[in-house]
Amino acid sequence: MSEFQHRYLEHRARKAVELSDQRIRLSRRSRRRFVPGVPLRRDHKLALLRAVADAPSSCNRSGIGVEWIDDNAGLAQWEQNLVGGKRWAHRGSAIMLFWASSQCYSHHDPAVGATLADQDGAFAAAMAHVEACRIGVASCYVCPNLTEWATGSPNFYNGSRFVGALVVGYPVFPDLDAPPKRSAEEVLL
Ligand SMILES: Cc1cc2nc3c(=O)[nH]c(=O)nc-3n(C[C@H](O)[C@H](O)[C@H](O)COP(=O)(O)O)c2cc1C
Repeated sequence: MSEFQHRYLEHRARKAVELSDQRIRLSRRSRRRFVPGVPLRRDHKLALLRAVADAPSSCNRSGIGVEWIDDNAGLAQWEQNLVGGKRWAHRGSAIMLFWASSQCYSHHDPAVGATLADQDGAFAAAMAHVEACRIGVASCYVCPNLTEWATGSPNFYNGSRFVGALVVGYPVFPDLDAPPKRSAEEVLL
């Protein structure tokens, strides 16, 4: 990437920080195309991790951890592992994998523990997704549906529950991934 493109991306990121809250909400979309080969800036990575640390969690357990994948082999492997990331997840600068600690979410009814872990994971990912929009980073959530290769690998889960992923990177334009939304009136049942 040229120094001009670098300066442009920094300019965009700075501008994004100045957006109002409403603009952030209105411009929040899932993005699956990213500027290729550009690592995420360290301050952007930290902002996304900060958002996870700030996320609400059931009984304030804070049992969600993030595995940060940004090497080419890891990106290619996880594009294979994630059913909902097929053919595009490797394009990101990084994939944030959300893991729920099994110790944290152990419950006498395993179904309840799993639900709490899934919900905390979804909140953490949503917080990171919105923070990404705020700082000018493109992102898309990927559900925790894994291919058989991944689920069949010994020790794959390492004692944790996989609760989803967020693919992050710098956006390319135009955005082709933006279906229209319902009106506020249409939401009301
Ligand atoms: C629980 C949940 C699971 C999702 N899973 C995937 C997924 O596996 N792969 C994917 O490409 N997008 C996934 N998405 C993103 C949705 O496709 C996206 O939010 C939807 O199309 C609306 O677009 P928008 O986010 O731009 O408003 C998921 C979103 C949610 C909330």
